[in-house]
Amino acid sequence: MLEDLNARLSQYGRYPLLEGPTPIQRLSRLEAVLGDEAGGARLWVKRDDLMEVGGGGNKLRKLEFLIGEALAQGCDTFITTGGLQSNHARQSAAAAARAGMACELMLADVVPRHDQDYRNNGNLLLDQIFGARVHRLSPGAAPVAAAQARADELREQGHKVYVVGNGGSSPLGALGYAASAAEIIAWEATSQVRFDTIVVPNGSSGTHAGLVAGLAAADDAPERVLSYTVLAPLHTALSDTRRLAKDALHLLDPERQIADQAIIVDGSQRGEAYGIPTGAMLAAVRTLARSEGLLLDPVYSGKAFAGFLERARSDAWANRDVLYVMTGGTPGLFAYAQAFVGQ
Ligand SMILES: Cc1ncc(COP(=O)(O)O)c(C=O)c1O
Repeated sequence: MLEDLNARLSQYGRYPLLEGPTPIQRLSRLEAVLGDEAGGARLWVKRDDLMEVGGGGNKLRKLEFLIGEALAQGCDTFITTGGLQSNHARQSAAAAARAGMACELMLADVVPRHDQDYRNNGNLLLDQIFGARVHRLSPGAAPVAAAQARADELREQGHKVYVVGNGGSSPLGALGYAASAAEIIAWEATSQVRFDTIVVPNGSSGTHAGLVAGLAAADDAPERVLSYTVLAPLHTALSDTRRLAKDALHLLDPERQIADQAIIVDGSQRGEAYGIPTGAMLAAVRTLARSEGLLLDPVYSGKAFAGFLERARSDAWANRDVLYVMTGGTPGLFAYAQAFVGQ
């Protein structure tokens, strides 16, 4: 039941970064553009890109719980890791500023893009505007080990440090998306719509895992969630998501289980590797921008939305309601300006 899920979530301290439930909106113009191709599918988006702090995005949901724990422990410094254009890093910088904490970012150079936009614009520019100290790691350096080493240095100087690795996707961080599941269930109850499928990008798996844990804790159907992996190869994404969903559910309700088959990940949109644009991503970003005036990002939501469009066009969702969770990441468009030139 929804009440059980909300009660269990309220056991964990949260630092507020969202103004309330994010809106769910129908993509009527996109439906009209797809026409018969979509077989009467009703397409919806949940606007997790619409949040006041830091430009918004999915990581703020995780950061509500992580910063909540950091403040409860009396920490004054927040350290996290990511790629050079990490949205998680940028949202961490903004959230830490809001919470009155210093922020240090250990950023790894993992994507083979060498132009000025990628190396200095987009999220990296915003990290610095939000006052974070950026450490660009040398090739091959392990980000989490670098974060721990920096934390030790700061502790020796008298700081209390909170370290978060891997996109904020710890079991506690994933609870941010269990809270999103609660919003979706509450919205469905008042609008007489039930989503057949809820589509998300999968990077460090916390978004998918948290939604699944929330649905399972509310006695709803976790297999409604479908993610597109954009970072790990399919088999790794599947095992990471399964493990994290189970660990997140354990925090909510140790009595409940999630079957392995309830975790559904699609590997078809990842392309060559993480952060490397695909033609389908470029087309998906253009399609949503030109039909609805909405922005995706080139690394996560653009690739997952390419999969969403492919399924919608394949008749798979004929006469069903399907929800796409917009996870933000718009600053990445400026880092990937070169990929969009001439599009
Ligand atoms: C815009 C955007 N969408 C989706 C994701 C994927 O979320 P997760 O890491 O929880 O799988 C990320 C992760 O960085 C992101 O920045």
